[in-house]
Amino acid sequence: MNETYEKLMRCYQAIRKKIDFQPKAALVLGSGLGDYAETIQTEAVLDYHEIDGFPIATVPGHKGRFIFGYIGSVPVVIMQGRVHYYEGYSMQDVVLPIRLMKMLGADILCLTNAAGGVNDTFQAGDFMLITDHIASFVPSPLIGENLEALGVRFPDMSEIYDEKLQCAVKEAAAELQIPIKEGIYLQTTGPSYESKQEIRMFRILGADAVGMSTACEAIAANHMGMKICGISCISNLACGMTDRPLSHAEVQETSDRMAESFKKLITCSIEKMIKYM
Ligand code: HPA
Repeated sequence: MNETYEKLMRCYQAIRKKIDFQPKAALVLGSGLGDYAETIQTEAVLDYHEIDGFPIATVPGHKGRFIFGYIGSVPVVIMQGRVHYYEGYSMQDVVLPIRLMKMLGADILCLTNAAGGVNDTFQAGDFMLITDHIASFVPSPLIGENLEALGVRFPDMSEIYDEKLQCAVKEAAAELQIPIKEGIYLQTTGPSYESKQEIRMFRILGADAVGMSTACEAIAANHMGMKICGISCISNLACGMTDRPLSHAEVQETSDRMAESFKKLITCSIEKMIKYM
């Protein structure tokens, strides 16, 4: 059997031995949202360490565990702490948790992140609904033997971010009176922030925000036929757009400041997604 698939099955069985919860939606928490899971009705918690072979995140402030529970009446699995390519994992490992959540039953995937604003009308603290992405600067998670049990060799990517789920997020934002921008997310490998010239290039290419996650996860999820939505918190303006150097502290500070609104937006959006399940 293919090594990636074998590992996936091993992780799946390890989870199913402990937990029989059937999520309908999966949520990946980005920077600042770490404690979101504490606000939901929790049914079970599984530390990543308890899953043999599971990639463990190394970024400070990222806890690593799955939380199973309910947002409103929606059964969800939440990833508290994701793994990033810059930590040294293969892309197959980076997307393994996404694949697992689909295998556990989640057909909807809600991805969140902190991102640098590339669009010069954006400000730190804005939210951006992801309408499409540019993943050409990172290796595809689908490279290697195709896992036929998951999806086709050459998957279509013409509507990665589901239109109806985008509507659900926009409805939620309007109801909560939380302004939300829309735009294109571009993924880099990180871990360095970009140069000024890279940001100018990304802007010319049509990117509105830049970050080090999400697009690869969306590709793997789309390969498996999940319905996806993505929301970025613009934690800073990208390199060269202010006269200050970038720092992880600034990213964390803005993410923390926006966390309460972000959490409300996620809850309300997921509650609205029930009609698409
Ligand atoms: N660049 C890349 N990734 C990021 C940024 C940025 O400016 N801010 C938050 N994540």
